Amino acid sequence: MVEAYRFPGIPVGWFTVAISGELRAGQVLPLKYFGEELILYRTESGEARLTDAYCPHLGAHLGAGKVEGENLRCAFHGFEFGGDGRCVRTGYGKAVPRKAKLGTWPIREHNGYIFAWYHPERKQPEWEIPVLPGPAEGWTAFRTRSIKVKSHPQETSENSVDTGHFVQVHGFGDAWTEGDLEVEGHLLKGAYGIRYPIAGKLNLVMKFNVEVHGLGYSLVRVEMPRFNASVHALVMSSPVDKENIVLRTSVSMKHWGPRPVTHLIRELASLGLNKEVGQDAPIWETKRYVERPILAEGDGPIAEYRRYCRQFYVQEAVKVAKLPVVAA
Ligand code: FES
Ligand SMILES: [Fe+2]
Repeated sequence: MVEAYRFPGIPVGWFTVAISGELRAGQVLPLKYFGEELILYRTESGEARLTDAYCPHLGAHLGAGKVEGENLRCAFHGFEFGGDGRCVRTGYGKAVPRKAKLGTWPIREHNGYIFAWYHPERKQPEWEIPVLPGPAEGWTAFRTRSIKVKSHPQETSENSVDTGHFVQVHGFGDAWTEGDLEVEGHLLKGAYGIRYPIAGKLNLVMKFNVEVHGLGYSLVRVEMPRFNASVHALVMSSPVDKENIVLRTSVSMKHWGPRPVTHLIRELASLGLNKEVGQDAPIWETKRYVERPILAEGDGPIAEYRRYCRQFYVQEAVKVAKLPVVAA
């Protein structure tokens, strides 16, 4: 593929790397994200940690390692690494080499997900993603479905501002934007309405408040005014490498009527969202990235969205900064 049709690397931000329930205490899970081999493990006390996969001693893959209390133990020579990645003991019971440090990745765990912070220069997090209400606050837990797609987080997030495709691809009766996009640093906010035809004549009107918290985490607050119902939908795109993602869609609903009814609506909403992603996926997989699109009246605020996205590419900024300074 021609370089010009690619996105400029993996964007900085928070990305889901696992569902909390996939990682039991004491479990070691090898993962691949950000083009890196990684290890996700949970200590005996329940803390999740994400590290590089290769042992700094002689390079064994720590996927074969074991959790020992609050440490991760390499299977090759028994070196153990603590939460900050430092080696705390060797299998020889002798002095610990001070330089032996395993690379660690910042993570957060809430709403049933483990999120990792990606920065190509391994810098610390620059913002946080919201903690949403859960079962303790009268909302259900999130129902998640996931697919692997040959695509990029900027592409999948762009979908939420591409109102033009709602009618063509997803069969909405009508879709409109409400007000302008708002950009506050890493956060982009937009509001939309859609009319969704059900059973011929009946129209379900839904209001979407979209919050894009970086390119890996989009939150859609959905309101159905006619039924006084509220849903939180998450679209979370995690780069496996520069050209492939795992896309997770998740739905949580504010309790509405009897519990089984709420759970049934949540399931239907989750299936609906999953179906929409299934309609988008073949387009994402076969399209190319047009850096300067020819936009038309009726398009959503794509140009504004593209401007917002630029802040997440460090490599580009670094490349510019490294250009030789020519003396006048
Ligand atoms: S390679 Fe891990 S302890 Fe030697
Ligand atoms: Fe879509």
